[in-house]
Amino acid sequence: MLKNLIHEFFSHTKSGTRPDLVCENQSLKPALMVICPSAIACKHSAQIVMNYFSTIIHMTDTHLGDQPDFRLWGLPVGAMFERVMADARERFPKVDLVVHTGDVTHDAGQAAAARVETLLGELGAPVGFTPGNHDLPEVMGGEPVCFDLPGWRVLLIDSRKPEAVEGWVEQGMLDWLDAMLRQATTPVLIGLHHPPLPTGTAWLDGIGLGNAGALWAVIRGHARVRAIIHGHAHMEQTTLNEGVLVLGTPSTNGQFRPQALRFALDDQPPGYRWLRLHRDGRLETGVVRVSL
Ligand SMILES: [Fe+2]
Repeated sequence: MLKNLIHEFFSHTKSGTRPDLVCENQSLKPALMVICPSAIACKHSAQIVMNYFSTIIHMTDTHLGDQPDFRLWGLPVGAMFERVMADARERFPKVDLVVHTGDVTHDAGQAAAARVETLLGELGAPVGFTPGNHDLPEVMGGEPVCFDLPGWRVLLIDSRKPEAVEGWVEQGMLDWLDAMLRQATTPVLIGLHHPPLPTGTAWLDGIGLGNAGALWAVIRGHARVRAIIHGHAHMEQTTLNEGVLVLGTPSTNGQFRPQALRFALDDQPPGYRWLRLHRDGRLETGVVRVSL
C-alpha cells in the first residue's frame, strides 16, 4: 500500500502535481515531505494525505497591437507582457493550465493574437482563451471551452456583445454553461472577460456585463460553482457572491484606478494571478505584481 502511494507521489510530482505527507508529529512534516520514502522508517504512525493540486496561471487584457512596438496609454504593452511572462516562467516551472480572459489584442489581427498564444505556450501547459470586447470575431472565435483537471472542471465562456464594449452572455452560451454544469461531478471554475458583478468604479460599471442576472440565474442552480475569474477591469478584486468567489485579475499592462468616476489609470504595476485547485476541492489563489 505504502509502496503504491510512494510510486504515485513521484509520478504525480513529475507531472506537476504534488501530495502533502503529514506525520502525526508535525515537526517531522518537512522531512517527510522532502524524502517521502523515509515514511517507511518513521517511528511515528504516519498519516499520508494525498493532496494533489493543479496550478493555473491567469493572464488577462494583454492588448497587443499589430506592430511589436504598439503603445496603449503610452505604455509599451508588448514589452510589458514579455516582462510579466518572464516572471511567471521563473516562479511557476510547472503549470497545468493557462487561462487568458480576453482583450488578447487591441483591435488587432492574427499576428498579434498568435504572438500572445506563443508566449503563453512557453509556460508548457494547454492555453484556454475567452475573447474580450477588443478581440475581433474574425481573429478570435467565441467557442466555449471545457478543461477537466483532477478534481476540478474549468469552463471558459464568451461574454462579447457584437460591436459593443459592454458584455452580454448569449442564450446559447448560457445553455452550454448550464449543460456543462449539470454534467459536472467536481467543483467548477468559470472564466469570462466581463466582471459578473459591479466593480464600484462608475465608468467601468457602465460597460460591465449587461445580463449578469441571467448568468447568476444559471450559476444559482449549480452548487458546484466555486469561483469565477475575469478581466476587463484591469484591477485586482475579490468578492464573495452567493457562495461563489469572484476574482478580478490585473492587466499585464496599465491598471485602472479603483472607484474612479471617469477613466483614470492607476500607478499599480502590471500583474497576473495564480490558482491552485486542490483535488479535495480547496482553492488557493494570489496575484503577482511585476516591477518593470
Ligand atoms: Fe482590457
